[in-house]
Amino acid sequence: MIFKDKIKPILALAPMADMTDWAFGQICRQVAGDDFVIFREMVSSEAIVRTNEKTLRMCKFDNNEHPIIQQVFGAYPEVVVSAAKLIVANYKPDGIDVNMGCPVPKIAGKADCGAALLKDPQRAYDIVKALKKANLGVTISIKTRLGWTENDDILTFAPLMESAGADFISIHGRTKQEGYTGTADWEKIAQVKKLISIPVFANGDIKNQADIKRCLEITGADGIMIGRGALGNPWIFKGLDREDVPLDELKRVVIAHAKLHIQHYGEKAITTFRKHLSYYFKGMAGTKDLRSELVRVKSIEELENIIKKIPG
Ligand SMILES: Cc1cc2nc3c(=O)[nH]c(=O)nc-3n(C[C@H](O)[C@H](O)[C@H](O)COP(=O)(O)O)c2cc1C
Repeated sequence: MIFKDKIKPILALAPMADMTDWAFGQICRQVAGDDFVIFREMVSSEAIVRTNEKTLRMCKFDNNEHPIIQQVFGAYPEVVVSAAKLIVANYKPDGIDVNMGCPVPKIAGKADCGAALLKDPQRAYDIVKALKKANLGVTISIKTRLGWTENDDILTFAPLMESAGADFISIHGRTKQEGYTGTADWEKIAQVKKLISIPVFANGDIKNQADIKRCLEITGADGIMIGRGALGNPWIFKGLDREDVPLDELKRVVIAHAKLHIQHYGEKAITTFRKHLSYYFKGMAGTKDLRSELVRVKSIEELENIIKKIPG
């Protein structure tokens, strides 16, 4: 379904906790259409199974967000399957993706989820196998890193995921140990691409159109997954770099995004929108003083007034 057009590489918005929510999905669709896949931020499979209302709400989306994939994290195959069943029954996303790359201690430390699955390939295999066996009628994919400490782990891990039945795999070209340091190793992703026949999404450090082109050339990947490069820049999915976006359009989209964020989380949530503001105006000439006002913004009216002062 997602890789229906084999000729054209597909773009995807990477799952990002507290970032790729309903409001951001909406703004991406408004700005860039529907020719790319949205990955929703990870949710806890345990919380879904407990029918935690806040977590369930995180999986809700509107029809215009298709194609959309919900990411889950979990350590127990039966819990991940139950959560996936609940999500599919309630919301019908196009796919369920399992997080096998998150390095944060809360996930990969005690809980044996996220990147910890790279150290426990059998468990990772069992999760994918169980999801496939459940026949949910959606794609089952995983998103991972190159390894825990060794960037060669992926050369055995990816084929194992393929043999478990994964429909495709997204690879962030760093190890867990590297966190976000250094640069993503696209050459290693190229090696993986040659080893397996399921589609591969290459991920890590793709910030603009030139990077998309270069990463595709190097990796030969079927798709490109963009995380931080899409923050403050949903235009990346329609072939534009941030500096090519007219200032008026940028201002309009920032306000539209802020309104969607408030619609979803309530009036007070302007404070949790500040993180998006710093991405929208990052490094923009003439906004240095205004940026310190933006990080303290307390209402949508105040935001509109600050944005009006941006020259140009
Ligand atoms: C704020 C933030 C939140 C993230 N949350 C998730 C997540 O929920 N699930 C996941 O698989 N990866 C998550 N990631 C990792 C990204 O999906 C991506 O793999 C990573 O940022 C590298 O790609 P990039 O250089 O395009 O940002 C997160 C990254 C950031 C910066």
